[in-house]
Amino acid sequence: MAILITDIGELTTNTEGGPLREAAVVVEGERIAWVGSASAAPAADARVSVDGRAVLPGWVDSHTHLVFAGDRTAEFEARMAGAPYRAGGIATTVAATRAATDATLSTNLARHIAEARRQGTTCLETKTGYGLNVADERRSARLAAEIADEVTYLGAHLIPEGYSADAYLDLVCGEMLDAVAPFVRWADVFCETGAFDADQSDRVLRAAAARGLGLRVHGNQLGHGPGVQLAVRHGAASVDHCAYLTDADIEALAASDTVATVLPACDLSTRQPLAPARRLLDAGVTVAIASNANPGTSYTTSMAYCVATAVLQMGLSVAEAVYAATAGGAKALRRTDIGSIAAGTRADLHVLDAPSATHLAYRPGVPLTAAVWLQGQRLDISGPDPI
Ligand code: NIG
Repeated sequence: MAILITDIGELTTNTEGGPLREAAVVVEGERIAWVGSASAAPAADARVSVDGRAVLPGWVDSHTHLVFAGDRTAEFEARMAGAPYRAGGIATTVAATRAATDATLSTNLARHIAEARRQGTTCLETKTGYGLNVADERRSARLAAEIADEVTYLGAHLIPEGYSADAYLDLVCGEMLDAVAPFVRWADVFCETGAFDADQSDRVLRAAAARGLGLRVHGNQLGHGPGVQLAVRHGAASVDHCAYLTDADIEALAASDTVATVLPACDLSTRQPLAPARRLLDAGVTVAIASNANPGTSYTTSMAYCVATAVLQMGLSVAEAVYAATAGGAKALRRTDIGSIAAGTRADLHVLDAPSATHLAYRPGVPLTAAVWLQGQRLDISGPDPI
Protein backbone atom coordinates (compact mmCIF):
# COMPACT_ATOMS: atom_id res chain seq x y z
CA MET A 1 0.00 0.00 0.00
CA ALA A 2 1.33 3.46 -0.96
CA ILE A 3 0.71 6.33 1.47
CA LEU A 4 1.18 9.92 0.34
CA ILE A 5 2.32 12.22 3.16
CA THR A 6 1.76 15.70 1.84
CA ASP A 7 1.50 19.42 2.64
CA ILE A 8 4.97 19.26 4.23
CA GLY A 9 6.02 22.86 4.95
CA GLU A 10 9.73 22.00 5.09
CA LEU A 11 11.22 18.61 4.33
CA THR A 12 14.78 17.92 5.53
CA THR A 13 16.07 15.16 3.30
CA ASN A 14 19.84 15.23 4.05
CA THR A 15 20.38 14.78 0.32
CA GLU A 16 21.75 17.16 -2.32
CA GLY A 17 19.57 20.19 -2.86
CA GLY A 18 18.81 21.13 0.74
CA PRO A 19 15.38 21.23 2.37
CA LEU A 20 12.31 21.13 0.14
CA ARG A 21 9.32 23.44 0.67
CA GLU A 22 5.71 22.38 0.06
CA ALA A 23 6.89 18.84 -0.32
CA ALA A 24 5.46 15.34 -0.20
CA VAL A 25 6.76 11.80 0.24
CA VAL A 26 5.27 8.47 -0.69
CA VAL A 27 5.79 5.60 1.75
CA GLU A 28 5.41 2.09 0.43
CA GLY A 29 5.82 -0.73 2.94
CA GLU A 30 8.90 -0.02 5.06
CA ARG A 31 10.54 2.30 2.53
CA ILE A 32 10.29 5.74 0.99
CA ALA A 33 9.12 5.30 -2.61
CA TRP A 34 9.09 8.91 -3.82
CA VAL A 35 10.13 12.41 -2.65
CA GLY A 36 9.28 15.71 -4.36
CA SER A 37 7.04 18.70 -4.64
CA ALA A 38 3.50 18.24 -3.28
CA SER A 39 2.09 19.55 -6.55
CA ALA A 40 3.83 16.76 -8.50
CA ALA A 41 2.98 13.90 -6.14
CA PRO A 42 1.89 10.62 -7.74
CA ALA A 43 -1.39 8.90 -6.92
CA ALA A 44 -1.37 6.73 -3.78
CA ASP A 45 -3.73 4.43 -1.90
CA ALA A 46 -4.02 6.78 1.07
CA ARG A 47 -3.21 10.42 1.82
CA VAL A 48 -2.08 12.07 5.06
CA SER A 49 -1.78 15.86 5.24
CA VAL A 50 0.66 17.29 7.79
CA ASP A 51 -0.76 20.79 7.30
CA GLY A 52 2.44 22.70 6.66
CA ARG A 53 4.49 21.06 9.40
CA ALA A 54 8.22 20.32 9.08
CA VAL A 55 9.34 16.73 8.50
CA LEU A 56 12.82 15.35 9.24
CA PRO A 57 14.38 11.89 9.17
CA GLY A 58 13.88 10.22 12.57
CA TRP A 59 16.70 10.85 15.03
CA VAL A 60 19.51 8.28 14.92
CA ASP A 61 20.76 8.05 18.50
CA SER A 62 24.07 6.27 18.04
CA HIS A 63 25.23 6.25 21.69
CA THR A 64 23.23 5.17 24.74
CA HIS A 65 23.77 2.89 27.77
CA LEU A 66 20.26 1.72 28.58
CA VAL A 67 20.64 -1.84 29.89
CA PHE A 68 20.70 -0.89 33.53
CA ALA A 69 18.86 -0.88 36.82
CA GLY A 70 19.09 1.48 39.78
CA ASP A 71 19.28 5.19 40.25
CA ARG A 72 22.08 7.73 40.62
CA THR A 73 20.17 10.84 41.61
CA ALA A 74 22.40 11.31 44.66
CA GLU A 75 25.53 11.27 42.50
CA PHE A 76 23.97 13.87 40.20
CA GLU A 77 23.04 16.04 43.17
CA ALA A 78 26.59 15.80 44.53
CA ARG A 79 27.95 16.80 41.11
CA MET A 80 25.67 19.80 40.95
CA ALA A 81 27.01 20.73 44.39
CA GLY A 82 30.56 20.69 43.02
CA ALA A 83 31.79 17.07 43.11
CA PRO A 84 33.58 15.96 39.94
CA TYR A 85 32.36 13.07 37.73
CA ARG A 86 34.60 10.01 38.05
CA ALA A 87 34.51 6.81 36.00
CA GLY A 88 34.08 4.87 39.27
CA GLY A 89 30.40 5.88 39.50
CA ILE A 90 29.75 3.15 36.95
CA ALA A 91 30.23 0.57 39.74
CA THR A 92 27.01 1.74 41.43
CA THR A 93 24.99 0.86 38.35
CA VAL A 94 26.89 -2.40 37.90
CA ALA A 95 25.79 -3.55 41.37
CA ALA A 96 22.14 -2.65 40.73
CA THR A 97 22.17 -4.20 37.25
CA ARG A 98 23.63 -7.49 38.46
CA ALA A 99 20.97 -7.67 41.17
CA ALA A 100 18.08 -7.01 38.77
CA THR A 101 15.95 -9.68 37.11
CA ASP A 102 15.81 -10.09 33.34
CA ALA A 103 12.27 -8.74 33.42
CA THR A 104 13.35 -5.56 35.21
CA LEU A 105 16.19 -4.93 32.78
CA SER A 106 13.98 -5.56 29.74
CA THR A 107 11.19 -3.38 31.08
CA ASN A 108 13.62 -0.54 31.83
CA LEU A 109 15.13 -0.76 28.38
CA ALA A 110 11.75 -0.92 26.64
CA ARG A 111 10.49 2.04 28.67
CA HIS A 112 13.47 4.18 27.73
CA ILE A 113 13.29 3.20 24.07
CA ALA A 114 9.58 4.03 24.07
CA GLU A 115 10.40 7.40 25.62
CA ALA A 116 12.93 8.01 22.85
CA ARG A 117 10.48 6.91 20.12
CA ARG A 118 7.85 9.35 21.38
CA GLN A 119 10.42 12.12 20.84
CA GLY A 120 11.28 11.11 17.29
CA THR A 121 14.13 8.63 17.70
CA THR A 122 13.73 5.87 15.12
CA CYS A 123 17.11 4.14 15.50
CA LEU A 124 18.83 3.68 18.84
CA GLU A 125 22.12 2.01 19.67
CA THR A 126 22.66 0.69 23.18
CA LYS A 127 25.47 -1.02 25.05
CA THR A 128 26.34 -3.60 27.62
CA GLY A 129 28.82 -2.37 30.22
CA TYR A 130 26.93 -2.58 33.49
CA GLY A 131 27.38 -6.35 33.84
CA LEU A 132 31.16 -6.69 33.81
CA ASN A 133 31.19 -10.45 34.32
CA VAL A 134 30.58 -13.10 31.70
CA ALA A 135 27.02 -13.97 32.72
CA ASP A 136 25.81 -10.40 33.17
CA GLU A 137 27.48 -9.03 30.04
CA ARG A 138 25.98 -11.89 28.04
CA ARG A 139 22.58 -11.27 29.61
CA SER A 140 22.77 -7.53 28.85
CA ALA A 141 23.71 -8.22 25.23
CA ARG A 142 20.94 -10.79 24.82
CA LEU A 143 18.23 -8.54 26.30
CA ALA A 144 19.42 -5.53 24.30
CA ALA A 145 19.40 -7.53 21.07
CA GLU A 146 15.71 -8.36 21.64
CA ILE A 147 14.69 -4.68 21.58
CA ALA A 148 17.38 -2.22 20.49
CA ASP A 149 18.26 -1.44 16.86
CA GLU A 150 22.05 -1.71 17.34
CA VAL A 151 23.95 -3.36 20.19
CA THR A 152 27.51 -2.75 21.37
CA TYR A 153 29.67 -4.82 23.71
CA LEU A 154 31.27 -2.61 26.38
CA GLY A 155 32.78 -5.17 28.73
CA ALA A 156 35.75 -2.77 28.81
CA HIS A 157 33.80 -0.09 30.69
CA LEU A 158 35.62 -0.36 34.01
CA ILE A 159 37.86 -2.88 35.77
CA PRO A 160 35.54 -4.45 38.37
CA GLU A 161 36.63 -4.84 41.95
CA GLY A 162 38.66 -7.93 42.66
CA TYR A 163 40.41 -8.11 39.29
CA SER A 164 43.84 -7.05 38.13
CA ALA A 165 43.77 -5.21 34.83
CA ASP A 166 45.44 -8.13 33.07
CA ALA A 167 43.07 -10.74 34.47
CA TYR A 168 40.03 -8.68 33.55
CA LEU A 169 41.33 -8.01 30.05
CA ASP A 170 41.89 -11.73 29.57
CA LEU A 171 38.19 -12.20 30.27
CA VAL A 172 37.03 -9.22 28.16
CA CYS A 173 39.09 -10.38 25.18
CA GLY A 174 38.35 -14.08 25.68
CA GLU A 175 35.43 -15.81 27.35
CA MET A 176 33.28 -12.68 27.70
CA LEU A 177 33.78 -11.70 24.06
CA ASP A 178 32.80 -15.20 22.95
CA ALA A 179 29.71 -15.07 25.15
CA VAL A 180 28.37 -11.75 23.80
CA ALA A 181 29.46 -12.03 20.17
CA PRO A 182 26.23 -13.68 18.90
CA PHE A 183 24.18 -10.71 20.11
CA VAL A 184 26.26 -7.65 19.18
CA ARG A 185 27.47 -5.86 16.06
CA TRP A 186 29.94 -3.53 17.79
CA ALA A 187 32.61 -3.47 20.51
CA ASP A 188 33.65 -0.39 22.46
CA VAL A 189 36.24 0.53 25.10
CA PHE A 190 36.29 3.36 27.64
CA CYS A 191 39.79 4.74 26.98
CA GLU A 192 40.23 7.20 29.83
CA THR A 193 42.16 7.77 33.04
CA GLY A 194 40.46 5.59 35.66
CA ALA A 195 39.24 3.11 33.04
CA PHE A 196 41.52 1.64 30.29
CA ASP A 197 44.82 3.09 29.07
CA ALA A 198 46.06 3.13 25.47
CA ASP A 199 47.69 -0.32 25.51
CA GLN A 200 44.77 -1.95 27.28
CA SER A 201 42.28 -0.31 24.91
CA ASP A 202 44.37 -1.39 21.93
CA ARG A 203 44.20 -4.97 23.16
CA VAL A 204 40.39 -4.84 23.45
CA LEU A 205 39.99 -3.37 19.98
CA ARG A 206 42.32 -5.93 18.39
CA ALA A 207 40.46 -8.82 20.00
CA ALA A 208 37.05 -7.46 18.97
CA ALA A 209 38.16 -6.83 15.39
CA ALA A 210 39.56 -10.35 15.19
CA ARG A 211 36.13 -11.61 16.29
CA GLY A 212 34.56 -9.67 13.39
CA LEU A 213 32.95 -6.87 15.40
CA GLY A 214 32.86 -3.24 14.30
CA LEU A 215 34.70 -0.84 16.58
CA ARG A 216 33.72 2.20 18.62
CA VAL A 217 35.72 4.07 21.29
CA HIS A 218 34.80 6.24 24.27
CA GLY A 219 37.61 8.78 24.17
CA ASN A 220 38.76 12.20 25.35
CA GLN A 221 35.80 12.61 27.71
CA LEU A 222 37.42 13.76 30.94
CA GLY A 223 40.75 15.02 29.66
CA HIS A 224 43.19 14.85 26.79
CA GLY A 225 44.19 11.29 25.99
CA PRO A 226 44.89 8.65 23.36
CA GLY A 227 41.28 7.66 22.56
CA VAL A 228 40.85 9.60 19.33
CA GLN A 229 44.20 8.55 17.84
CA LEU A 230 43.55 4.95 18.80
CA ALA A 231 40.09 5.00 17.23
CA VAL A 232 41.45 6.43 14.00
CA ARG A 233 44.32 3.94 13.92
CA HIS A 234 41.88 1.04 14.28
CA GLY A 235 39.45 2.43 11.71
CA ALA A 236 36.71 2.64 14.34
CA ALA A 237 33.31 3.75 13.05
CA SER A 238 33.10 6.38 15.77
CA VAL A 239 34.94 7.95 18.67
CA ASP A 240 32.52 9.33 21.20
CA HIS A 241 32.68 12.25 23.68
CA CYS A 242 35.62 14.20 22.15
CA ALA A 243 35.41 16.97 24.76
CA TYR A 244 39.20 17.44 24.95
CA LEU A 245 40.86 17.50 21.53
CA THR A 246 44.24 18.66 20.32
CA ASP A 247 44.78 20.03 16.82
CA ALA A 248 46.47 16.71 16.00
CA ASP A 249 43.35 14.81 17.12
CA ILE A 250 41.17 16.93 14.86
CA GLU A 251 43.57 16.52 11.92
CA ALA A 252 43.61 12.76 12.41
CA LEU A 253 39.82 12.64 12.45
CA ALA A 254 39.56 14.83 9.36
CA ALA A 255 41.82 12.46 7.45
CA SER A 256 39.86 9.37 8.53
CA ASP A 257 36.49 7.66 8.16
CA THR A 258 35.97 7.78 11.92
CA VAL A 259 32.98 9.87 12.97
CA ALA A 260 33.39 12.21 15.96
CA THR A 261 30.28 11.74 18.08
CA VAL A 262 29.59 14.58 20.46
CA LEU A 263 27.32 14.17 23.48
CA PRO A 264 26.20 17.63 24.56
CA ALA A 265 23.78 16.50 27.27
CA CYS A 266 26.61 14.54 28.91
CA ASP A 267 29.02 17.48 28.73
CA LEU A 268 26.45 19.63 30.53
CA SER A 269 25.47 17.00 33.10
CA THR A 270 29.11 16.34 34.02
CA ARG A 271 30.08 20.01 33.82
CA GLN A 272 32.77 19.24 31.28
CA PRO A 273 33.56 21.64 28.47
CA LEU A 274 31.26 21.23 25.48
CA ALA A 275 32.96 19.22 22.75
CA PRO A 276 34.41 21.49 20.04
CA ALA A 277 31.88 20.49 17.39
CA ARG A 278 32.31 23.77 15.50
CA ARG A 279 36.06 23.23 15.14
CA LEU A 280 35.48 19.63 14.08
CA LEU A 281 33.03 20.62 11.34
CA ASP A 282 35.26 23.46 10.15
CA ALA A 283 38.14 20.97 9.84
CA GLY A 284 36.01 18.67 7.68
CA VAL A 285 35.32 15.98 10.30
CA THR A 286 32.01 14.08 10.12
CA VAL A 287 30.19 14.82 13.36
CA ALA A 288 27.33 12.90 14.98
CA ILE A 289 25.22 14.08 17.90
CA ALA A 290 23.87 11.46 20.32
CA SER A 291 22.13 11.50 23.70
CA ASN A 292 24.45 9.18 25.66
CA ALA A 293 21.35 8.30 27.68
CA ASN A 294 22.58 6.56 30.85
CA PRO A 295 21.89 6.86 34.58
CA GLY A 296 25.28 8.39 35.43
CA THR A 297 26.39 11.10 33.07
CA SER A 298 23.43 11.92 30.84
CA TYR A 299 20.00 10.79 31.93
CA THR A 300 18.05 12.03 28.94
CA THR A 301 16.73 10.43 25.76
CA SER A 302 15.97 13.84 24.23
CA MET A 303 17.80 14.28 20.94
CA ALA A 304 15.93 17.59 20.52
CA TYR A 305 17.64 18.87 23.67
CA CYS A 306 21.03 17.79 22.29
CA VAL A 307 20.31 19.50 18.97
CA ALA A 308 19.18 22.71 20.68
CA THR A 309 22.35 22.70 22.82
CA ALA A 310 24.52 22.13 19.76
CA VAL A 311 22.95 25.16 18.11
CA LEU A 312 22.69 27.50 21.10
CA GLN A 313 25.95 26.64 22.85
CA MET A 314 28.25 24.82 20.42
CA GLY A 315 27.88 27.17 17.48
CA LEU A 316 26.29 24.81 14.94
CA SER A 317 23.61 25.94 12.54
CA VAL A 318 20.25 24.19 12.87
CA ALA A 319 20.91 22.38 9.58
CA GLU A 320 24.31 21.15 10.82
CA ALA A 321 22.91 19.98 14.14
CA VAL A 322 19.92 18.18 12.59
CA TYR A 323 22.22 16.53 10.04
CA ALA A 324 24.57 15.38 12.83
CA ALA A 325 21.66 13.91 14.83
CA THR A 326 20.26 12.02 11.83
CA ALA A 327 22.67 11.38 8.94
CA GLY A 328 25.69 11.81 11.26
CA GLY A 329 24.35 9.13 13.60
CA ALA A 330 23.73 6.86 10.62
CA LYS A 331 27.35 7.30 9.51
CA ALA A 332 28.54 6.59 13.06
CA LEU A 333 26.66 3.29 12.77
CA ARG A 334 27.80 2.75 9.17
CA ARG A 335 24.21 2.63 7.99
CA THR A 336 23.05 3.93 4.60
CA ASP A 337 19.39 2.93 4.94
CA ILE A 338 18.53 5.49 7.64
CA GLY A 339 19.27 9.15 8.44
CA SER A 340 18.01 10.58 5.15
CA ILE A 341 14.75 10.78 3.19
CA ALA A 342 15.14 9.58 -0.38
CA ALA A 343 13.63 6.91 -2.58
CA GLY A 344 14.74 3.57 -1.13
CA THR A 345 15.63 4.67 2.41
CA ARG A 346 13.75 3.36 5.42
CA ALA A 347 10.52 5.29 6.01
CA ASP A 348 11.52 6.75 9.40
CA LEU A 349 9.92 10.19 9.63
CA HIS A 350 9.70 12.77 12.37
CA VAL A 351 6.91 15.31 11.97
CA LEU A 352 7.39 18.47 14.04
CA ASP A 353 4.59 20.56 15.42
CA ALA A 354 6.33 23.53 13.81
CA PRO A 355 6.77 24.93 10.30
CA SER A 356 10.55 24.50 10.23
CA ALA A 357 13.39 22.64 11.94
CA THR A 358 14.63 26.01 13.21
CA HIS A 359 11.98 25.76 15.92
CA LEU A 360 14.04 22.98 17.56
CA ALA A 361 16.48 25.68 18.71
CA TYR A 362 14.10 28.64 18.63
CA ARG A 363 11.71 26.89 21.06
CA PRO A 364 14.12 24.81 23.18
CA GLY A 365 12.56 22.55 25.77
CA VAL A 366 9.16 22.54 24.07
CA PRO A 367 7.99 19.06 23.03
CA LEU A 368 7.66 19.50 19.26
CA THR A 369 7.13 15.94 18.07
CA ALA A 370 3.75 15.74 16.30
CA ALA A 371 4.08 12.30 14.70
CA VAL A 372 6.66 9.55 14.23
CA TRP A 373 6.77 7.00 11.41
CA LEU A 374 8.99 3.97 11.97
CA GLN A 375 9.64 1.68 9.02
CA GLY A 376 6.53 2.93 7.30
CA GLN A 377 4.24 2.55 10.33
CA ARG A 378 2.84 5.54 12.19
CA LEU A 379 3.53 5.07 15.91
CA ASP A 380 1.03 5.80 18.62
CA ILE A 381 2.95 8.44 20.56
CA SER A 382 0.07 9.33 22.88
CA GLY A 383 0.37 6.41 25.30
CA PRO A 384 3.07 5.82 27.88
CA ASP A 385 5.01 3.04 26.18
CA PRO A 386 4.88 2.54 22.40
CA ILE A 387 7.88 0.80 20.84
O1 NIG B 1 29.49 7.53 28.19
N1 NIG B 1 32.10 7.23 29.79
C1 NIG B 1 31.74 6.14 30.09
N2 NIG B 1 30.50 5.68 30.12
C2 NIG B 1 29.32 6.49 30.27
C3 NIG B 1 29.09 6.80 31.69
C4 NIG B 1 28.49 5.71 32.38
C5 NIG B 1 28.19 5.94 33.81
O2 NIG B 1 28.74 6.83 34.50
O3 NIG B 1 27.38 5.16 34.27
C6 NIG B 1 29.40 7.72 29.41
O4 NIG B 1 29.36 8.85 29.88
